[in-house]
Amino acid sequence: MKSIQKFALGLCIAVASLTGAQAAGGNAIAWDKAPVNTSDLGSLQNGAKLFVNYCLNCHSAAFMRYNRLQDIGLTNQQIKDNLLFTTDKVGDTMKANIDPKQAKEWFGAVPPDLTLVARSRSGHGGTGSDYLYTYLRTYYRDETKPTGWNNLAFPNVGMPNPLWQLQGERQPVYEDRKVKGQTEPVFVGWKQVTPGTMSPKQYDKAVGDLVNYMHWMAEPAQNNRVRLGIWVLLFLAGFTYIAWRLNTAYWKDIK
Ligand code: HEC
Repeated sequence: MKSIQKFALGLCIAVASLTGAQAAGGNAIAWDKAPVNTSDLGSLQNGAKLFVNYCLNCHSAAFMRYNRLQDIGLTNQQIKDNLLFTTDKVGDTMKANIDPKQAKEWFGAVPPDLTLVARSRSGHGGTGSDYLYTYLRTYYRDETKPTGWNNLAFPNVGMPNPLWQLQGERQPVYEDRKVKGQTEPVFVGWKQVTPGTMSPKQYDKAVGDLVNYMHWMAEPAQNNRVRLGIWVLLFLAGFTYIAWRLNTAYWKDIK
């Protein structure tokens, strides 16, 4: 086979397998838009609190130091008093409580490091933050699973619902609908089985804060980057004007 033919064949196979993968993921639900706003310090602080309280039991954020939380408006003393559970040094990185080997035994999978997950999990359904916002709000009770939990955005997930006391227990509701000529169950909403300590609205807000924090954590310099970027663009615009006027002045007599 000529190399161009080989190349074309390879391309066809690659495209076919890509669309295949998309189709396989097609029955997972659409992602909701995450309410991300990294200039809302109150939201980021609340998110950081939820993160260290509910996630660091099993997950690390090995590229994040506690004292970096000064960037979201906390003092070292506040960090020490409220957020240090797995260490006693504010200069330490966020380490998990659990031993990864044990986690693998208990949950069938190692809890991944979460520092960058808000960026790494983006996909055709939206940003990584959209995914997280959907994932943490689509848990339901499933007694056929070892943990007793299942998830619409991540079917058969090994992680039990970490926020279930806040959200309560829910069941997805399906209705039979005709899709392309075939009747199949379609997800239409939720039934609250037992109440949580939060109302659904409060829960969405809490998860929004948590995801906002995880979004910020994946790139703590982003606020600086944007602020600096605006000044750089203004400088370039001003400089372009000066260069243009100078150019006209230099060539004035020659033309
Ligand atoms: C009881 C331990 C435990 C706690 C607490 C926990 N997780 Fe997990 N998490 C896991 C395990 C185990 C996995 C791997 C699941 C798998 O691959 O099936 C996981 C996976 C994940 C993933 C990856 C999902 C994916 O699509 O790849 C994310 C994101 C995540 N957890 C976020 C969180 C957040 C946010 C919290 C805190 C609100 C949290 N986890 C609390 C055990 C835990």
